[in-house]
Amino acid sequence: MEAEAPKAGHESVLKTKSRVSLSSVDKNNIGTLRKLLSVILPVVYTERFYADVLLADAEAYCKLIYCNDIPVGAVCSRIETDAGTKESKLYIMTMGILAPYRSLGLGSFAIKSLLETASTSTAKPRLSSLYLHVQISNSDAKRFYERNGFTEVGVVEDYYKKIEPKAAWLMRWENPPLPPGAATDSADKPTAKTDEKPAAKGQGKGKKGKGR
Ligand SMILES: CC(C)(COP(=O)(O)OP(=O)(O)OC[C@H]1O[C@@H](n2cnc3c(N)ncnc32)[C@H](O)[C@@H]1OP(=O)(O)O)[C@@H](O)C(=O)NCCC(=O)NCCS
Repeated sequence: MEAEAPKAGHESVLKTKSRVSLSSVDKNNIGTLRKLLSVILPVVYTERFYADVLLADAEAYCKLIYCNDIPVGAVCSRIETDAGTKESKLYIMTMGILAPYRSLGLGSFAIKSLLETASTSTAKPRLSSLYLHVQISNSDAKRFYERNGFTEVGVVEDYYKKIEPKAAWLMRWENPPLPPGAATDSADKPTAKTDEKPAAKGQGKGKKGKGR
């Protein structure tokens, strides 16, 4: 698939003159996603994860990130709908940038694009919030999300089963309420399970070489 042009306004977060773009993950480029995640994160994702990524309603929220047409990162999310309240949220399952391309603003660019899509989309149901888990040893990633408008709303003990520390911060971004009279319908899809989100491989600061 052709890489999409950046959305207006997001370029301001970039600290590189390189061309940065996003492209939806699809069956033709999912191999690239697999390769990127295997390099960036120390976990083999389940086939369920890759099936979730290819769901039609996830297309707007599962992106490969390109720098000068080279795939250098990815963000993958899924929509979860509470069967009782019908409230829909976006769960960011994974996010990562190859180490040499970190601290250039690419991650912020991708997250801002996701937030804009979530807050301007006319698709129903409307997403009430975005959330994700960050391993409590990964304070750099926490700071990254805080800079991009997320707030820590709690700690989930024993969130991770196979890596230490097991605890994770729960981070959330609230979608601003729509103006009165513009309410959308609720969803009718079932709630999905939450995947374990791993610590990053090579969590050093890429070009800056700062370890954690
Ligand atoms: C977290 C991550 C996606 C941010 O992407 P990015 O393109 O580097 O983000 P930006 O350039 O927009 O912002 C950089 C900021 O992110 C934060 N950050 C978090 N982890 C970082 C890392 N490993 N390297 C560099 N910056 C990191 C820093 O606060 C940094 O600010 P600084 O450049 O002033 O030091 C990326 O660093 C990464 O892939 N890290 C490893 C995987 C990971 O931890 N994923 C998140 C799991 S919840």
